[in-house]
Amino acid sequence: MIPLAARPEVAMSTPPERTELLYTGKAKQVFATTDPDLLWIHFTDGATAFNGVKRATITDKGRINAQISAGLFERVEAAGVATHLVQAIGPADHLVHRLEIIPVEVVVRNIAAGSLSKRLAIPEGTALPRPLVEFFYKSDELNDPLITDDQALLFGWARAWELAYLRDAALRVNDLLCGFWDGLDITLVDFKLEFGRALGRGRGGQILLADEITPDGSRLWEKGTLRKLDKDVFRRDLGDLGDTYRELFERVFGEAAGR
Ligand SMILES: Nc1ncnc2c1ncn2[C@@H]1O[C@H](COP(=O)(O)OP(=O)(O)O)[C@@H](O)[C@H]1O
Ligand SMILES: [Mg+2]
Repeated sequence: MIPLAARPEVAMSTPPERTELLYTGKAKQVFATTDPDLLWIHFTDGATAFNGVKRATITDKGRINAQISAGLFERVEAAGVATHLVQAIGPADHLVHRLEIIPVEVVVRNIAAGSLSKRLAIPEGTALPRPLVEFFYKSDELNDPLITDDQALLFGWARAWELAYLRDAALRVNDLLCGFWDGLDITLVDFKLEFGRALGRGRGGQILLADEITPDGSRLWEKGTLRKLDKDVFRRDLGDLGDTYRELFERVFGEAAGR
């Protein structure tokens, strides 16, 4: 697999300007823009784990995550799954379609790890016979609990056709990402996706893949050594997360993460 090409950003004819700060999350800031249908997402250097209990600032993390995520979104879009990305508009910034986020986080697992291993006592590293899709309710207060399809329907978090689309799109993204990371000698263990409903003009009515695809929300294990190249390095104090992410960037883009 050829690494993603680091290439200059394509300029929009008249890119909208960033206006007021709408939301400060754990790893990103969301701004309004002069275009009511578009948002400006700035990836910060903030790292959190255990729902914000553990916090740190990791130099370069915002830029690295923004650039990896943009590259992967472009591939996903090219493979036929629509995403919210309009364009990478700065070194750590995405211009995106404004969505109503569906409060159902979609996790795809290829190998048992993390909460699945804990919940069901499946030893970490156990290969799953096929990819497993899990839904979690997006709620910081509740620590993003695992939910059933029926709960999502009954409480109105998503419609039946939306859950079907989420599952199907997530599996297609998994196929693509498994191939991409495999080509870099990295195993995609699991990852989390968010989706949203496009309300504005252009892509109105569509469900788009939103948020990010980054090593913050994925488990990536180096083949052979099983060395972790993702946020578990921070969660479990396994080394320097900045160094890990710079190494990952170099593998993805074939060049160092320059300033
Ligand atoms: N296209 C979009 N439209 C609206 N909201 C979005 C879009 N993409 C991502 N978001 C939301 O923006 C926030 C990004 O900030 P983040 O630091 O990840 O927040 P959080 O702490 O909630 O995970 C998330 O809550 C995410 O759901
Ligand atoms: Mg988030």
